[in-house]
Amino acid sequence: MKSIFVFFFFHFLTLSFANPGMKRQHYPCKNLVLYFHDVIYNGQNAANATAAIVGAPQWGNLTILADKFHFGNVVVFDDPITLDNNFHSVPVGRAQGMYIYDTKNTFTAWLGFTFVLDNAQHKGTISFIGADPILVKSRDISVVGGTGDFFMHRGIATIMTDSFEGDVYFRLRVDIKFYECW
Ligand SMILES: *[C@@H]1O[C@H](CO)[C@@H](O)[C@H](O)[C@H]1NC(C)=O
Ligand SMILES: *[C@@H]1O[C@H](CO)[C@@H](O)[C@H](O)[C@H]1NC(C)=O
Repeated sequence: MKSIFVFFFFHFLTLSFANPGMKRQHYPCKNLVLYFHDVIYNGQNAANATAAIVGAPQWGNLTILADKFHFGNVVVFDDPITLDNNFHSVPVGRAQGMYIYDTKNTFTAWLGFTFVLDNAQHKGTISFIGADPILVKSRDISVVGGTGDFFMHRGIATIMTDSFEGDVYFRLRVDIKFYECW
């Protein structure tokens, strides 16, 4: 009997030393799934475009995304946010910010943008920052803060390319998980 107790005692010690941080379980305090739609200006779609190339490398221009995986392009956007994946749904806010293509040998971007939400369910802003390895199906970026209904909120957003049409349109699904609410 005593030896069994000693065994379990040491087993417990080993477990707790092996995983010092294991105790904490984190669950989101709030979830939100939203979509946004990016229509890049391509020289012909001025009325419909929601994004513009504002920076290009020496070998590119401001009309067409550059060769070499668009490396060096900077795009500013003011994109509609919708509750579902339909481009024509009534927007619930705007996704405003920029992305920078920042790898020379594959497609990746750096995202920095804010969701400005102004509708019956949500009023406030949510700000995002992070690396976006575009070719990966599901990637995580940081939710660095918020205002209004999202005052002092932080968390992680899982983004997925829900659809795209060449270099002109893409739709992102943004699955926001707040781990700090207020
Ligand atoms: C921009 O670059 C593309 C691709 O190289 C080219 O087809 C287009 O003519 C250029 N546009 C301008 C305005 O220079
Ligand atoms: C605007 O762009 C979207 C995405 O490419 C497309 O579905 C829509 O038909 C376009 N609207 C107009 C008026 O061109």
